[in-house]
Amino acid sequence: MSVSKTVALVTGGSRGLGRDIALKLAAQGTDVIITYNTRKEEAFAVVEQIKHTGVHAVALQLSTENTGAFPTFFTTLTAILQTDFHTDRFDYLINNAGIGLHMAFESTTEEQFDLLLNVLFKGVYFFTQQALHYTRDGGAIVNLSSRLAQSGVPGYSAYASMKGAVETLTRYQAKELGSRRIRVNSVAPGPTATDFGGGIVKDNAQFRANVTALTALGRVGEPDDIGGVVAFLCSDAARWVTAQRIEVSGGMNI
Ligand SMILES: NC(=O)c1ccc[n+]([C@@H]2O[C@H](COP(=O)([O-])OP(=O)(O)OC[C@H]3O[C@@H](n4cnc5c(N)ncnc54)[C@H](OP(=O)(O)O)[C@@H]3O)[C@@H](O)[C@H]2O)c1
Repeated sequence: MSVSKTVALVTGGSRGLGRDIALKLAAQGTDVIITYNTRKEEAFAVVEQIKHTGVHAVALQLSTENTGAFPTFFTTLTAILQTDFHTDRFDYLINNAGIGLHMAFESTTEEQFDLLLNVLFKGVYFFTQQALHYTRDGGAIVNLSSRLAQSGVPGYSAYASMKGAVETLTRYQAKELGSRRIRVNSVAPGPTATDFGGGIVKDNAQFRANVTALTALGRVGEPDDIGGVVAFLCSDAARWVTAQRIEVSGGMNI
Protein backbone atom coordinates (compact mmCIF):
# COMPACT_ATOMS: atom_id res chain seq x y z
CA MET A 1 0.00 0.00 0.00
CA SER A 2 1.46 3.38 -0.93
CA VAL A 3 1.51 6.06 1.75
CA SER A 4 0.34 9.42 0.45
CA LYS A 5 2.74 12.33 0.81
CA THR A 6 2.04 15.02 3.37
CA VAL A 7 3.06 18.68 3.11
CA ALA A 8 3.76 21.09 5.97
CA LEU A 9 3.95 24.88 5.98
CA VAL A 10 6.32 26.15 8.69
CA THR A 11 6.53 29.90 9.26
CA GLY A 12 9.91 31.20 10.39
CA GLY A 13 11.77 28.11 9.23
CA SER A 14 15.03 29.83 8.40
CA ARG A 15 16.60 29.33 11.83
CA GLY A 16 15.99 28.50 15.47
CA LEU A 17 12.99 26.41 16.40
CA GLY A 18 11.35 26.66 12.97
CA ARG A 19 14.43 25.20 11.32
CA ASP A 20 14.44 22.25 13.73
CA ILE A 21 10.68 21.75 13.27
CA ALA A 22 11.14 21.67 9.48
CA LEU A 23 13.99 19.15 9.77
CA LYS A 24 12.03 16.88 12.12
CA LEU A 25 8.97 16.97 9.83
CA ALA A 26 11.22 16.12 6.88
CA ALA A 27 12.71 13.25 8.88
CA GLN A 28 9.26 11.68 9.13
CA GLY A 29 8.80 11.99 5.38
CA THR A 30 6.79 15.20 5.15
CA ASP A 31 7.52 17.68 2.37
CA VAL A 32 8.09 21.14 3.78
CA ILE A 33 7.47 24.74 2.76
CA ILE A 34 9.29 27.12 5.08
CA THR A 35 8.99 30.87 5.26
CA TYR A 36 11.58 33.47 6.18
CA ASN A 37 11.28 37.17 6.92
CA THR A 38 14.66 38.65 5.94
CA ARG A 39 17.20 35.82 6.03
CA LYS A 40 16.79 34.33 2.58
CA GLU A 41 20.21 32.66 2.50
CA GLU A 42 19.64 30.82 5.79
CA ALA A 43 16.24 29.70 4.53
CA PHE A 44 17.70 28.37 1.30
CA ALA A 45 20.38 26.51 3.29
CA VAL A 46 17.61 24.81 5.31
CA VAL A 47 15.86 23.89 2.05
CA GLU A 48 19.04 22.28 0.73
CA GLN A 49 19.53 20.37 3.97
CA ILE A 50 15.95 19.08 3.82
CA LYS A 51 16.28 18.04 0.18
CA HIS A 52 19.28 15.90 1.11
CA THR A 53 16.97 13.85 3.36
CA GLY A 54 14.96 12.85 0.29
CA VAL A 55 11.83 15.00 0.69
CA HIS A 56 10.97 18.16 -1.18
CA ALA A 57 11.30 21.67 0.28
CA VAL A 58 10.74 25.27 -0.80
CA ALA A 59 11.31 28.63 0.94
CA LEU A 60 9.03 31.65 0.56
CA GLN A 61 9.19 35.16 1.99
CA LEU A 62 6.54 36.10 4.56
CA SER A 63 6.22 38.93 7.07
CA THR A 64 3.53 37.82 9.50
CA GLU A 65 2.68 41.40 10.51
CA ASN A 66 1.90 42.32 6.90
CA THR A 67 -1.65 40.97 6.61
CA GLY A 68 -2.19 42.87 3.35
CA ALA A 69 0.40 40.66 1.65
CA PHE A 70 -1.23 37.37 2.67
CA PRO A 71 -3.46 37.01 -0.45
CA THR A 72 -0.40 37.34 -2.72
CA PHE A 73 1.49 34.88 -0.53
CA PHE A 74 -1.27 32.30 -0.90
CA THR A 75 -1.54 32.87 -4.65
CA THR A 76 2.18 32.07 -4.90
CA LEU A 77 1.80 29.15 -2.53
CA THR A 78 -1.05 27.66 -4.55
CA ALA A 79 1.05 27.74 -7.70
CA ILE A 80 4.01 26.14 -5.91
CA LEU A 81 1.84 23.45 -4.36
CA GLN A 82 0.71 22.49 -7.84
CA THR A 83 4.04 22.70 -9.68
CA ASP A 84 6.39 21.44 -6.97
CA PHE A 85 4.23 19.24 -4.74
CA HIS A 86 1.51 18.08 -7.19
CA THR A 87 -1.30 18.90 -4.80
CA ASP A 88 -3.64 21.80 -4.03
CA ARG A 89 -3.53 21.43 -0.25
CA PHE A 90 -1.07 21.18 2.61
CA ASP A 91 -1.63 19.01 5.66
CA TYR A 92 0.08 20.85 8.50
CA LEU A 93 0.47 24.51 9.40
CA ILE A 94 3.06 25.46 12.01
CA ASN A 95 2.69 29.06 13.20
CA ASN A 96 6.21 29.46 14.53
CA ALA A 97 7.57 32.81 13.24
CA GLY A 98 8.09 35.31 16.00
CA ILE A 99 10.16 37.85 17.83
CA GLY A 100 10.79 38.61 21.47
CA LEU A 101 11.10 42.02 23.07
CA HIS A 102 12.17 42.47 26.67
CA MET A 103 10.98 45.64 28.43
CA ALA A 104 9.34 46.48 31.73
CA PHE A 105 5.56 46.86 31.80
CA GLU A 106 5.90 50.47 32.93
CA SER A 107 8.11 51.48 30.00
CA THR A 108 6.56 49.43 27.18
CA THR A 109 5.63 51.76 24.32
CA GLU A 110 2.54 51.47 22.16
CA GLU A 111 4.83 50.95 19.17
CA GLN A 112 6.53 47.94 20.82
CA PHE A 113 3.16 46.56 21.90
CA ASP A 114 1.74 46.90 18.38
CA LEU A 115 4.77 45.20 16.83
CA LEU A 116 4.39 42.18 19.12
CA LEU A 117 0.62 42.16 18.63
CA ASN A 118 0.92 42.21 14.85
CA VAL A 119 3.70 39.63 14.49
CA LEU A 120 2.67 37.20 17.22
CA PHE A 121 -1.12 37.39 17.33
CA LYS A 122 -2.94 39.37 14.65
CA GLY A 123 -0.66 37.91 11.98
CA VAL A 124 -1.17 34.36 13.26
CA TYR A 125 -4.94 34.88 13.46
CA PHE A 126 -5.45 36.12 9.90
CA PHE A 127 -2.69 34.05 8.30
CA THR A 128 -4.37 30.92 9.64
CA GLN A 129 -7.80 32.15 8.53
CA GLN A 130 -6.56 32.41 4.94
CA ALA A 131 -4.45 29.24 5.19
CA LEU A 132 -7.57 27.22 5.99
CA HIS A 133 -8.64 27.43 2.33
CA TYR A 134 -5.54 25.38 1.48
CA THR A 135 -5.43 23.08 4.53
CA ARG A 136 -6.52 19.50 4.02
CA ASP A 137 -9.42 18.21 6.14
CA GLY A 138 -7.94 15.88 8.74
CA GLY A 139 -4.77 17.99 8.96
CA ALA A 140 -3.23 19.76 11.94
CA ILE A 141 -2.20 23.20 13.12
CA VAL A 142 0.47 23.83 15.75
CA ASN A 143 0.79 27.30 17.27
CA LEU A 144 4.03 28.19 19.04
CA SER A 145 3.34 29.65 22.45
CA SER A 146 5.80 30.06 25.32
CA ARG A 147 6.40 28.97 28.89
CA LEU A 148 6.19 32.70 29.63
CA ALA A 149 2.44 32.70 28.97
CA GLN A 150 2.02 30.74 32.21
CA SER A 151 4.46 32.24 34.69
CA GLY A 152 6.13 35.56 34.98
CA VAL A 153 9.62 36.66 34.14
CA PRO A 154 9.76 40.44 34.56
CA GLY A 155 10.06 42.23 31.23
CA TYR A 156 7.86 40.02 29.09
CA SER A 157 4.35 41.33 29.88
CA ALA A 158 3.48 42.22 26.28
CA TYR A 159 5.18 39.20 24.67
CA ALA A 160 3.64 36.76 27.15
CA SER A 161 0.19 38.33 26.74
CA MET A 162 0.33 37.69 22.98
CA LYS A 163 1.31 34.07 23.62
CA GLY A 164 -1.56 33.74 26.11
CA ALA A 165 -3.86 34.99 23.36
CA VAL A 166 -2.41 32.39 21.00
CA GLU A 167 -3.19 29.64 23.54
CA THR A 168 -6.80 30.83 23.85
CA LEU A 169 -7.09 31.06 20.08
CA THR A 170 -5.77 27.50 19.82
CA ARG A 171 -8.65 26.14 21.91
CA TYR A 172 -11.25 28.04 19.87
CA GLN A 173 -9.71 26.90 16.60
CA ALA A 174 -9.72 23.31 17.85
CA LYS A 175 -13.42 23.61 18.65
CA GLU A 176 -14.43 25.29 15.39
CA LEU A 177 -12.23 23.24 13.08
CA GLY A 178 -13.04 19.91 14.64
CA SER A 179 -15.86 19.50 12.12
CA ARG A 180 -13.13 19.36 9.44
CA ARG A 181 -11.12 16.95 11.63
CA ILE A 182 -8.35 19.55 11.84
CA ARG A 183 -6.52 19.23 15.16
CA VAL A 184 -5.09 22.39 16.73
CA ASN A 185 -2.58 22.40 19.58
CA SER A 186 -0.06 24.80 21.04
CA VAL A 187 3.53 24.00 21.96
CA ALA A 188 5.05 26.15 24.68
CA PRO A 189 8.85 25.97 24.79
CA GLY A 190 10.83 27.12 27.77
CA PRO A 191 13.92 29.28 27.22
CA THR A 192 15.69 27.76 24.22
CA ALA A 193 19.10 28.66 22.79
CA THR A 194 18.32 30.51 19.54
CA ASP A 195 18.68 34.08 18.24
CA PHE A 196 15.37 34.87 19.97
CA GLY A 197 15.34 38.04 22.10
CA GLY A 198 18.82 39.06 20.97
CA GLY A 199 20.19 35.58 21.70
CA ILE A 200 19.80 35.95 25.47
CA VAL A 201 19.32 32.20 26.11
CA LYS A 202 22.16 31.28 23.75
CA ASP A 203 24.73 33.87 24.76
CA ASN A 204 24.05 35.28 28.24
CA ALA A 205 25.78 33.07 30.83
CA GLN A 206 23.94 34.62 33.78
CA PHE A 207 20.55 34.13 32.13
CA ARG A 208 21.43 30.52 31.28
CA ALA A 209 22.48 29.89 34.89
CA ASN A 210 19.22 31.38 36.19
CA VAL A 211 17.12 29.24 33.85
CA THR A 212 19.14 26.14 34.67
CA ALA A 213 18.49 26.65 38.39
CA LEU A 214 14.73 26.86 37.74
CA THR A 215 14.58 23.80 35.47
CA ALA A 216 14.07 20.25 36.75
CA LEU A 217 16.26 18.73 34.03
CA GLY A 218 19.01 21.23 34.82
CA ARG A 219 19.81 23.05 31.58
CA VAL A 220 18.34 25.45 29.03
CA GLY A 221 16.52 24.11 25.98
CA GLU A 222 18.12 23.51 22.59
CA PRO A 223 16.23 23.77 19.27
CA ASP A 224 16.65 20.01 18.85
CA ASP A 225 14.48 19.54 21.98
CA ILE A 226 11.45 21.15 20.37
CA GLY A 227 10.97 20.08 16.75
CA GLY A 228 10.24 16.44 17.51
CA VAL A 229 7.29 17.38 19.72
CA VAL A 230 5.79 19.46 16.91
CA ALA A 231 6.45 16.65 14.43
CA PHE A 232 4.66 14.23 16.79
CA LEU A 233 1.60 16.51 16.79
CA CYS A 234 1.74 16.33 12.98
CA SER A 235 1.65 12.55 12.95
CA ASP A 236 -1.03 9.87 13.08
CA ALA A 237 0.15 8.98 16.61
CA ALA A 238 -1.40 12.30 17.74
CA ARG A 239 -4.70 11.78 15.91
CA TRP A 240 -6.72 12.04 19.16
CA VAL A 241 -4.84 15.07 20.52
CA THR A 242 -6.43 18.47 20.02
CA ALA A 243 -6.95 21.73 21.97
CA GLN A 244 -3.91 20.97 24.13
CA ARG A 245 -1.04 23.10 25.36
CA ILE A 246 2.13 21.04 25.51
CA GLU A 247 4.95 22.61 27.46
CA VAL A 248 8.46 21.67 26.36
CA SER A 249 10.66 23.27 28.98
CA GLY A 250 12.48 20.51 30.85
CA GLY A 251 10.19 21.18 33.80
CA MET A 252 10.67 24.89 34.44
CA ASN A 253 9.28 26.49 37.62
CA ILE A 254 7.64 23.29 38.91
N1 LIG B 1 13.77 30.57 21.81
C1 LIG B 1 13.00 30.62 22.90
O1 LIG B 1 13.47 30.71 24.03
C2 LIG B 1 11.49 30.54 22.73
C3 LIG B 1 10.74 30.16 23.86
C4 LIG B 1 9.37 30.08 23.74
C5 LIG B 1 8.76 30.35 22.54
N2 LIG B 1 9.50 30.72 21.47
C6 LIG B 1 8.79 31.00 20.22
O2 LIG B 1 9.27 30.16 19.21
C7 LIG B 1 9.14 30.79 17.95
C8 LIG B 1 10.48 30.74 17.22
O3 LIG B 1 11.44 31.42 18.00
P1 LIG B 1 13.01 31.18 17.79
O4 LIG B 1 13.59 31.06 19.14
O5 LIG B 1 13.25 30.12 16.80
O6 LIG B 1 13.43 32.60 17.19
P2 LIG B 1 14.57 32.98 16.12
O7 LIG B 1 15.72 32.04 16.19
O8 LIG B 1 14.83 34.44 16.33
O9 LIG B 1 13.86 32.76 14.70
C9 LIG B 1 12.74 33.55 14.39
C10 LIG B 1 12.14 33.07 13.07
O10 LIG B 1 10.97 33.85 12.83
C11 LIG B 1 11.13 34.60 11.63
N3 LIG B 1 10.54 35.93 11.81
C12 LIG B 1 10.95 36.90 12.67
N4 LIG B 1 10.17 38.00 12.55
C13 LIG B 1 9.26 37.70 11.59
C14 LIG B 1 8.19 38.43 10.99
N5 LIG B 1 7.92 39.69 11.35
N6 LIG B 1 7.46 37.82 10.04
C15 LIG B 1 7.74 36.55 9.65
N7 LIG B 1 8.75 35.82 10.15
C16 LIG B 1 9.49 36.40 11.12
C17 LIG B 1 12.61 34.67 11.38
O11 LIG B 1 12.87 34.89 9.99
P3 LIG B 1 14.32 35.48 9.49
O12 LIG B 1 15.33 34.40 9.81
O13 LIG B 1 14.16 35.69 8.03
O14 LIG B 1 14.55 36.72 10.27
C18 LIG B 1 13.06 33.30 11.88
O15 LIG B 1 12.80 32.31 10.92
C19 LIG B 1 8.63 32.20 18.21
O16 LIG B 1 7.22 32.24 18.04
C20 LIG B 1 8.97 32.41 19.68
O17 LIG B 1 8.11 33.33 20.28
C21 LIG B 1 10.84 30.81 21.53
